[in-house]
Amino acid sequence: MSTVIRGGTIVTADLSYQADVLIEGGRIAAIGQGLVGDTVLDAGGCLIMPGGIDPHTHLEMPFMGTYSADDFESGTRAALAGGTTMVVDFALPSPGQGLLDALQMWDNKSGRAHCDYSYHMAVTWWGQQVFDEMQAVVDRGITSFKHFMAYKGALMVNDDELFASFRRVGDLGGVAMVHAENGDVVAELSARLLAEGNTGPEAHAYSRPPQVEGEATNRAIMVADMAGVPLYVVHVSCEDSHEAIRRARAQGKRVWGEPLIQHLTLDESEYFNADWDHAARRVMSPPFRNKQHQDSLWAGLQSGSLSVVATDHCAFTTDQKRTGIGDFTKIPNGTGGLEDRMPMLWTHGVGTGRLTPNEFVAVTSTNIAKILGMYPKKGAVLVGSDADLVVWDPEATKTITAGAQQSAIDYNVFEGQTVKGLPRFTLTRGVVAVTEGKVDSRKGHGEFVAREPHGQVNRALSAWKDLTAPRPVQRGGIPASGV
Ligand code: URP
Ligand code: ZN
Ligand code: ZN
Ligand code: ZN
Repeated sequence: MSTVIRGGTIVTADLSYQADVLIEGGRIAAIGQGLVGDTVLDAGGCLIMPGGIDPHTHLEMPFMGTYSADDFESGTRAALAGGTTMVVDFALPSPGQGLLDALQMWDNKSGRAHCDYSYHMAVTWWGQQVFDEMQAVVDRGITSFKHFMAYKGALMVNDDELFASFRRVGDLGGVAMVHAENGDVVAELSARLLAEGNTGPEAHAYSRPPQVEGEATNRAIMVADMAGVPLYVVHVSCEDSHEAIRRARAQGKRVWGEPLIQHLTLDESEYFNADWDHAARRVMSPPFRNKQHQDSLWAGLQSGSLSVVATDHCAFTTDQKRTGIGDFTKIPNGTGGLEDRMPMLWTHGVGTGRLTPNEFVAVTSTNIAKILGMYPKKGAVLVGSDADLVVWDPEATKTITAGAQQSAIDYNVFEGQTVKGLPRFTLTRGVVAVTEGKVDSRKGHGEFVAREPHGQVNRALSAWKDLTAPRPVQRGGIPASGV
């Protein structure tokens, strides 16, 4: 069985051109004019792009005394509905738990995925077992390791642990990742706010100001530089953090920043809504910021100082959020966005002229495929690449509403927003999963994607670090010591 996508314009990270795409055996078999196949998909008026890759999801994640409500089943269904064909989820050992043990838990959940997936491994504690097991994790094709500088007393690691782990990741040819917020300061500010009677969701924002994120980002960049490892900063929400990344990149450091679609399009005023539920549903870390910070993030995408747009999809129901009534520190942190990332970014990015269609593809798919070592299997429209494709109708519109979404939760943080630009078809390894809003995907179709360590950036950085490493000065005559 072969499929041909006919009559569209192929849009990749670097090129737009008219051609048909022939798919056989789940991969792109040919690109050209007048191709024929058993099934024809009409892409007239549409753009044929690499399917979105969301490199930051937490599906069925144990967190803050509960589990995030979207699992690999509903989460990947939501992804496909919005034109995303791959997710990278965080395997999260609880403190003291082995990495391989955690991987087993994630393998047990991910069998229900409707689209392809991979994992990052979180380093939530440090010890010989973690050090040893990191090799086996990389051997399984998991080459990115996430560290939390926040969530003190739970997932947070200290600087000595960060440095030790970053060095290990560098030696293994992987990418270090950080959630950058100063966890000590957040803990102190939170306690003080509660003591002063600031118990509502707005206090969550007060407890995590931009400076806290900026400081941690600078610290992570320094530690990564000392360790000689490429660094990926997740959920960059503000100018303070962006500025640190921008400066590091201008200095030639290998650092990438990831803003979320939520931070790009929603602001801090959400937390001051008189409706407690409304505000609590938007509690996530880092919190939404003001318009100046938003402008900084958009400028970062335009100038290339920020590289990837993700969601950090970590969805909790209103009931789960209500655990935090009377104490904002108990509101489960996280928001959804898997289904909405692509249409929202197209609408507010391409629709406004802030991004070109090629830049859209770069930040939703191609850049992260390269960073994570899975390009051009993913993130490309090339012969031999997986046929993870979205046939994008730039004229299609809808109004986002929780009632029509795939996600298991009872609200949507983008409720009521009208988007222009939607998938006509979403294909996962050549199989049509979505047709004009109708989802017809299969539970268990998704496959694990193993990734390659020691990519080009790692090799270049290692060469540079070797060249500039401290060396003893070779001296001819050493003077006799004075007595
Ligand atoms: O609030 C958030 N972001 N929840 C998910 C866990 C994390 O910090 O990424
Ligand atoms: Zn985080
Ligand atoms: Zn509301
Ligand atoms: Zn996250």
